[in-house]
Amino acid sequence: MKERVALYPGSFDPITLGHLDILERATSIFDRVVISVLRNPGKQPLFSVEERVEMIRAAIREVSGEVEVDSFDGLTVEHAARVGAIAIVRGLRALSDFETEFQMALMNRRLDPDIHTVFLMTSAPNVFMSSALVKEVCRLGGDISEFVPPPIAEALRRRLGKPG
Ligand code: PNS
Repeated sequence: MKERVALYPGSFDPITLGHLDILERATSIFDRVVISVLRNPGKQPLFSVEERVEMIRAAIREVSGEVEVDSFDGLTVEHAARVGAIAIVRGLRALSDFETEFQMALMNRRLDPDIHTVFLMTSAPNVFMSSALVKEVCRLGGDISEFVPPPIAEALRRRLGKPG
């Protein structure tokens, strides 16, 4: 049977336990998941693309299933086709995510009708979590250990100047 591959694209600045939750769910559905960092010149990220790729590699050691990490620029559907994906995976937290995600999914379908978007629901403790909020909590000296894996917490504290 043909291998079922999914692309999980995003900014991952940095990857959180919410992202890992979605990734774990995706690996239980697909034979292989390619998690891919967008090279977005329009955004001012905290971590470079290379750093984010390395951080994802460190974070996914605990994830079972076949996962590959890479980066891309340009259209997500084109990258999905390049890696042989039949689907794009996106996590849904709350209603607030829905409108943009719905728009992106429909645009991606217009661009490539053969690639489906699969939305996966995050678990309840992750509903409020986002990379932006985790960075803010860290910047203000709050405890982020419940939101990101240990190597990511370490990298965040180092980058945002909050040792400990
Ligand atoms: O983690 P994010 O920032 O919510 O991820 C957004 C992402 C990378 C999935 C989205 O910005 C994207 O797909 N960008 C690539 C450009 C593209 O394909 N645009 C047209 C379809 S919406």
